Amino acid sequence: MSGIYLDNAATSFPKPEYVYKAMDYFMRELGGSPARGSYSKAQESERIVIKLRSKLCQLLGVSDPTRLLFTFNSTDALNLVLKGFLKPGDHVIVTDVEHNALLRPLWKMRQTHNIAVTIVKSNEHGQVSPEDIFKEVTPQTKLIACVHASNVLGTLQPIQEIGAGCKKRGIAFLVDGSQTAGAYPVDVDALGIDFFVFTGHKSLLGPGGTGGVIIQHGLELDSYREGGNGAHSDHLEQPTGLPERYESGTPNMLGYAGLLAGVEFIQEQGVHNIRAHELALNKALMEELQGIDQVKIYGPSAEEKVAITSIGFKMLDTSEVGQILGKKFNIMVRTGIHCSPLIHQNIGTKAQGTVRFSMGWFNTLEEIKKVGDAVREISHAVYGGNRS
Ligand code: ALA
Repeated sequence: MSGIYLDNAATSFPKPEYVYKAMDYFMRELGGSPARGSYSKAQESERIVIKLRSKLCQLLGVSDPTRLLFTFNSTDALNLVLKGFLKPGDHVIVTDVEHNALLRPLWKMRQTHNIAVTIVKSNEHGQVSPEDIFKEVTPQTKLIACVHASNVLGTLQPIQEIGAGCKKRGIAFLVDGSQTAGAYPVDVDALGIDFFVFTGHKSLLGPGGTGGVIIQHGLELDSYREGGNGAHSDHLEQPTGLPERYESGTPNMLGYAGLLAGVEFIQEQGVHNIRAHELALNKALMEELQGIDQVKIYGPSAEEKVAITSIGFKMLDTSEVGQILGKKFNIMVRTGIHCSPLIHQNIGTKAQGTVRFSMGWFNTLEEIKKVGDAVREISHAVYGGNRS
């Protein structure tokens, strides 16, 4: 690939070769609609859906594949859960590390559904304390929601402790795994997570338009979308079984074919190996950046986060840094406010945002070295080696 792609937290790139091949094969050779035909192409499509559901469940530690509901992405899954689970008068506790995918629907639901929302502040590294969360519980608290890893700082949250506290109190626990599924070991059943949301196009290495939510046994959601799905087609009522109850309309088969290939690739490499590789890259990057004049690194140590490092330059606009990195060095990063406004407020980057480097499986230590050299060169050009 030409250039150094470090925007994997937005979407992973490149995808494994196998993903491109699986999508091409689907478009040229299969193309059938699953569960809607008895010809072999439709049956092959149906097998892709079944296999994908089952492989995702293996990867994420879920025993019953019917509890995995496909959606278009994490935002879609979060809207399904929030709007389907919460009732007027309910109270929800969230953190200031959350993405707008969770915050915006909830913000609107304060008005439209009379939902009370408490936002718990994290520390200067974006780490949330379970104690601070549970201090806010009221008799009306129905849901506690927490992102597994921050998309701005990479910070991993103590979801095991939060999950255990939720269980003890009979409160449902939602985890937004957009930045961890595929990049960090996740065991949804063992962690006692009630709703685990994931997206297909980031570390699961699939294409956009894929994602989902895993819901625990016994939890009911009001669905906001009904329609045909090939099951009980002679009935006007929506089927009540899982997952058909929540999956209507022709699915994104091209996306599923690609996502299945992505998940199989991850299983071949092993999530622990992927985590080890990305951790080594992030450590190396932080070592490169530490000590560069006027550069401030936000967030905790590499071990305490996924492969994301956000920095700021004293007296230099983050979007300008992003442009120089792109134009002069062909290094692709995201700059500004990364759709999670409250954590920027917390760490003091609300005006400028950050320059965010996010690594993936295909990045190398050689690339990281080049990034260090580029940031040093920018710092030297702007500040001339003068410390202040
Ligand atoms: N949430 C994605 C990001 O952090 C889009 O860039």
